[in-house]
Amino acid sequence: MDIIIGENCIGKLNEYLRSNRATELYIITDDNVNALHMEKLKEVIKGYDMNTYTLSPGEESKSISTILSIYDDLIENNIDRDAIILSFGGGVVGDIAGFAASTYKRGLKYIQIPTTLLAQVDSSVGGKVGIDYGGYKNIVGSFYFPELTLVDIQFLDTLKDREIICGLGEVLKYGLIYDYDLFQFTMDNMEQIYNKDLDILLQIIRRSITIKEEVVNRDRYDTGLRMILNFGHTIGHGIEAYYDFGRYNHGEAIILGMIYESKIAYRMGLIDEKYFQTIYQGLRKLVAPVKFNGYEIEQLIHRMKNDKKNKGDRIAFILPISRGKVKLHMDVDEGLIAESLKGEWV
Ligand SMILES: NC(=O)c1ccc[n+]([C@@H]2O[C@H](COP(=O)([O-])OP(=O)(O)OC[C@H]3O[C@@H](n4cnc5c(N)ncnc54)[C@H](O)[C@@H]3O)[C@@H](O)[C@H]2O)c1
Repeated sequence: MDIIIGENCIGKLNEYLRSNRATELYIITDDNVNALHMEKLKEVIKGYDMNTYTLSPGEESKSISTILSIYDDLIENNIDRDAIILSFGGGVVGDIAGFAASTYKRGLKYIQIPTTLLAQVDSSVGGKVGIDYGGYKNIVGSFYFPELTLVDIQFLDTLKDREIICGLGEVLKYGLIYDYDLFQFTMDNMEQIYNKDLDILLQIIRRSITIKEEVVNRDRYDTGLRMILNFGHTIGHGIEAYYDFGRYNHGEAIILGMIYESKIAYRMGLIDEKYFQTIYQGLRKLVAPVKFNGYEIEQLIHRMKNDKKNKGDRIAFILPISRGKVKLHMDVDEGLIAESLKGEWV
């Protein structure tokens, strides 16, 4: 898989397509990206046969009905196996486009052109594609790697602060699981990141993608090491699903997950108070933790029990054990999960 990262590097897509003798393109995007950036993409790929499918922005679109509608459109437009799907948007578009590409006619080539910080540092790399179903995140999907991921940071220019926070959550996660220097560098440069300082953004994006690639290359199909990328996700996915994907974005929920899970790690004696406070005080500036009531805690734990990482009835947690290091734990006491979510310490 090739990765191109830079500012105003979208033009390189044309070279890539020409060298791969592409003729027909099928673009999948969402309404926001279509309105803000489609002209720039179309300028680069004029001359190719192309069709565009535009979905409504947001997690609700990551559904089986969107996939069925894309299949209908692909069939209606006689898209054949030589066509290349271009995913142009955030993580929702990327996951949907990759899943459509992996299944239609037993697989079409696809290219990721991520336009959110979260998609640039995370979802466009690693080949996980899929949809939500039955109230569960990413429960249907596959591993399907793009031919190319083209990360052009010019697209971040129009991103709202809330979306920057979501991407920052994943960057800080890489710091906490793999490279503590990245965590510190990101915390120290928060102001510059919100102000879209391109040099700082490029540095954190490059480092994040390198980490994700390193982890994925050592465990492509998520049977071991790759699990560390799920720090914050056991509780984060539970929170996202509990609110029906409406209250917190994915990245925000993962930030909350990292806070509550770090509290569990502290209570289990895996990390000391000083390190817990560093994580907590840093992340709470991005998303404020809440105190969940008894009913909510019960619902959240119920959802966590259906997480893909679990074995039998035991909930899998990736917990911090030292600066830049985490470990899988299957033995977390339910009482400790509840205590953390109760948030009396907030
Ligand atoms: N496949 C993976 O490995 C992986 C990893 C992490 C997250 N994800 C998935 O990614 C999704 C979240 O991705 P996301 O945070 O990018 O959400 P998103 O795709 O919903 O994008 C967030 C919002 O930003 C808008 N947007 C996109 N690009 C923009 C731009 N350049 N300027 C202005 N607005 C823009 C979108 O229209 C949308 O409203 C979740 O479904 C999550 O499960 C997948």
